[in-house]
Amino acid sequence: MPARSVYLETFGCQMNELDSELVAGQLRALGYRFVGEPDAADVILYNTCSVREHAEQKVWSRLGLDRLRKEREPHVVVGVLGCMAERDGEDLIRRMPVVDILCGPGELDKLPALLDNAVRTRDSLQADADAEGAKSARQVALQGSTSRRSGTLAAAQDTLEMLDLSRAVSPAGGEGGHRGSAYVRITRGCNKFCTYCVVPFTRGAEVHRPPDHIVDECRKLADAGVIEVTLLGQTVNHYRFEHGAAVTVNGIVQPQKGRAYAGGHRADPYRGTGVTTFADLLARIHDEVPAIRRLRFVTSYPRDFGDDVLQVIRDHPRICRYLHVPAQSGSNAQLKAMNRGYTVEEYLEFLDRARAFLHQPEIGRPLAVAGDIIVGFPGESDADFLATARLLERARYKNCFIFKYSPRPGTVAYDKLPDDVPEAVKRRRNNELLALQQRISAEVGAEYVGMELDVFVEGLSRREVKRAARAPHARGNGHAHAGVALTIGGRPLGAPETLHGTPSACAMPPLSEDEAPRPDAAPRGVQVSARTDGDLIVHVDLPADRAARAESLVGRVARCRITESRQLSLVGELLD
Ligand code: 5AD
Ligand code: SF4
Repeated sequence: MPARSVYLETFGCQMNELDSELVAGQLRALGYRFVGEPDAADVILYNTCSVREHAEQKVWSRLGLDRLRKEREPHVVVGVLGCMAERDGEDLIRRMPVVDILCGPGELDKLPALLDNAVRTRDSLQADADAEGAKSARQVALQGSTSRRSGTLAAAQDTLEMLDLSRAVSPAGGEGGHRGSAYVRITRGCNKFCTYCVVPFTRGAEVHRPPDHIVDECRKLADAGVIEVTLLGQTVNHYRFEHGAAVTVNGIVQPQKGRAYAGGHRADPYRGTGVTTFADLLARIHDEVPAIRRLRFVTSYPRDFGDDVLQVIRDHPRICRYLHVPAQSGSNAQLKAMNRGYTVEEYLEFLDRARAFLHQPEIGRPLAVAGDIIVGFPGESDADFLATARLLERARYKNCFIFKYSPRPGTVAYDKLPDDVPEAVKRRRNNELLALQQRISAEVGAEYVGMELDVFVEGLSRREVKRAARAPHARGNGHAHAGVALTIGGRPLGAPETLHGTPSACAMPPLSEDEAPRPDAAPRGVQVSARTDGDLIVHVDLPADRAARAESLVGRVARCRITESRQLSLVGELLD
């Protein structure tokens, strides 16, 4: 079989990015090649997101284009992976018959087999010119509701764990390699059932991975040069693994269903008694894999955040002081309708407690907090909205993702609560909160000026990437590849690593005021983009005589003094 070329595009959250990375690793090992353009691929895969309708619409429009292509090139195989596949199931194929493969997020370990079957069937059908039979090329793997059927996974091997365990870690710079930073899953699924959210249905019940698997994966990544690990979970701080209840199948300890536990703000009473709590896990990774210079985690659930976790973060210098804890609303009536399980007062009490433990700007260790808010949830009155604005003022997020409520079929809110806030009102509330948060973000940023702290250097800033793309030698070769002039390991230094290639220069939006060259910057210097451990972006100008250092800085932690705060980022200077 000739090497198949695959285009894989990822929508949605970090969990999807990790899933795509794991899937790509598996397919690469089987000889598939990845390309940056769908037109150059004979296998097109979309790893999809169903959290909001907008993300789904993008996939529908991609599939529309694929349909046209497939009329000309029937051998092309199209696959929908992830939450849309799980949620829509075979309805998706009925609506878009161009789709050959459906693979839910809980079945991704089966994708290589599905793909192989689809490709072979296509080939043989093509040979027979049997258009009628084309339907049988379809391959479907969905979890359905099986993940919620039993109280334990003991009955069956959790095959998805094999996907995580089989992770192929490439060194930085190689194909599929990292840039010093990687995600590691610690839990999958969610048991919270917020009334607006599809995740408990698409990703299934909450499952916690065995701590040894997680620590081993971190160690493997560190050995390959990763220095920043972000632990992933839908409610990441809910992690807990009861060793006494562990089940082993074929010598492999299985992930464990989330178990009811008292939660609340107290330290987990089971710490050190045969249970690995979230606090224990953080401490273990920190202590056993010291080569990881930055340990982060997303996304946290505001309840069930014990003081033990905050203490562990405070006492372990390589754990980032960054919390992403969505509030969703500042109105108790709305939080109740959303089934969030906490009040505004409890949420704010948590933030105060977290800051009391972790906000130490005087030693270069401020706590940065990010949030999520939904506006226009059913029944949101002007008073509810004002309460949310007040919450933003109190919470002082470094940034906040603000979403307009999007009714999702299958959720409780969709079935029971009319989507009664008009679109124009949702849009206005969205814009008002964005403006408010912009001011708060600027104020939070201003507090950083003069601070000395560590930053993680990610690559050239977008300004440099654009500049390199505009350089005469970068034009006219048909691949106006961003950052052609400045590469690391053959890969453009500044373009974000994506599985679907690097963004082309023309696809990049114009420079914002923030990114415009500083008037006093050296003419041939280089600007790199870095992040604080609280996830604030810092631009650092390296003058001409130090520009050569840019390459050696990427993927490393450097000490930096913040000199200026701009609308979307900070400006800093290197101290070493
Ligand atoms: N509509 C709008 N936003 C949503 N989110 C989740 N479901 C919906 C929905 N139906 C938001 C929440 C969550 C983030 C990942 O997406 O704020 O924290
Ligand atoms: Fe969705 Fe709520 Fe679970 Fe987050 S905690 S994934 S919003 S159900």
